[in-house]
Amino acid sequence: MRHLHIDAKLFIKNRERLKASLKPGSLTIANANDILPTNADGSLTMQANSDLFYLSGIEQEESVLALFPDHPDETMREILFLREPNEHLKVWEGHKHSKEQAISISGIRNIKWLDSFPTILHQLMCDADHVYLNSNEHKRAVVEVETRDARFIQNLKARYPLHQYHRLARIMHALRAVKSEVEMQLLKKAISVTKSGFERVAKATRQGVNEFELEAEFIHEFTRNRCKFAYNPIIAGGENSCILHYNQNDQALKNGELLLIDVGANYANYNADLTRTIPVSGRFSKRQRDVYEAVLRVQKASIAGAVVGKLHKDWFKESQEMMNQELLNLGLIDQKDITDQKPSEPACRKYFMHGLGHVLGLDVHDVGLMHEPFAPGWVLTVEPGIYIPKEGFGVRLENNILVTENGPIDLMADIAIEPDEIEALMARRK
Ligand code: GLY
Ligand code: MN
Ligand code: MN
Repeated sequence: MRHLHIDAKLFIKNRERLKASLKPGSLTIANANDILPTNADGSLTMQANSDLFYLSGIEQEESVLALFPDHPDETMREILFLREPNEHLKVWEGHKHSKEQAISISGIRNIKWLDSFPTILHQLMCDADHVYLNSNEHKRAVVEVETRDARFIQNLKARYPLHQYHRLARIMHALRAVKSEVEMQLLKKAISVTKSGFERVAKATRQGVNEFELEAEFIHEFTRNRCKFAYNPIIAGGENSCILHYNQNDQALKNGELLLIDVGANYANYNADLTRTIPVSGRFSKRQRDVYEAVLRVQKASIAGAVVGKLHKDWFKESQEMMNQELLNLGLIDQKDITDQKPSEPACRKYFMHGLGHVLGLDVHDVGLMHEPFAPGWVLTVEPGIYIPKEGFGVRLENNILVTENGPIDLMADIAIEPDEIEALMARRK
């Protein structure tokens, strides 16, 4: 593992929270993710399953967690199944968890090798009335390949058709939305490494440097700090800054352009998600600064508006109303555009066509209950933008915040964002 050891108390507590949400006589199974094939004998790097990690701290492939909190035999209440290490695996793939290590990571005392899974699963199923299984229920997920969880659900339901099956995802979404203090420490580490990456890149930005050279600066800074990319970084100079999901990152930068950087570090599976927009020359033009300040005002007001009890849809609508006024002042829309707008198509959508923010955590677009009012412990991104292809630039600013009873806390308050701070940071370039 690249990250430092995490006290197993986090995962013990997470399992306690899950157990409180289950029906009596319940078995819950969480699977690791598949290692996804690419071409020939290639594969993508293993991505830890967020729910399995949340409940056990385990990131190793093929692992299975079985929880049966009220099983009469105490040893059957928590069982973690792992690949058995052997000499062949040691030579070809390297280290696999020993039982002692798995206990230390997860706090689960009963660790079994995978070959015992079918027998023990049958015993558990014979004693269970309810079975909670996992599925990807993220609203924006488009999953065309059959996942390990999907195969498991099919097999189990075929073999045991008379049990009561339930969706684990719904419970996990509610649990994961509210971050604990330890989770916040991990997330803050991801944010602090993102900050150092951004500062390093701001100092390396200049005419003639290619976007991929800046990507390389991030890789170096993240990797040496035990992190990886939270997602493919967007490093977009000039007109590319108007492409919302640009990640070719292969163009040379020119003076006069803005550079939009949307990047986050992932530490111990927790993700930061930062966007800053900086001038390649080190100085904003008057027009760039006017647009930048408009986005910044909307961001600041939206951060302040992320209070307990707010509904996401109202929060978003308020930002669109502010954005309409800003765009009016910038001469990008006129009063008639606002008067004639349909509720589903506010005038600002021509220049601010994406959402205001999303929940953040073990996934970048994290799971959560987006129709529920904001609650203490939620982490949100706040990321308004204005994109003007005809003027050759877009501006987006994205911070991560924590919703608390005492108001929102900006977790990125110490990352330069005022235009003067950005110019001062870039003035320190060698
Ligand atoms: N980088 C993905 C996002 O900002 O939502
Ligand atoms: Mn982002
Ligand atoms: Mn985001």
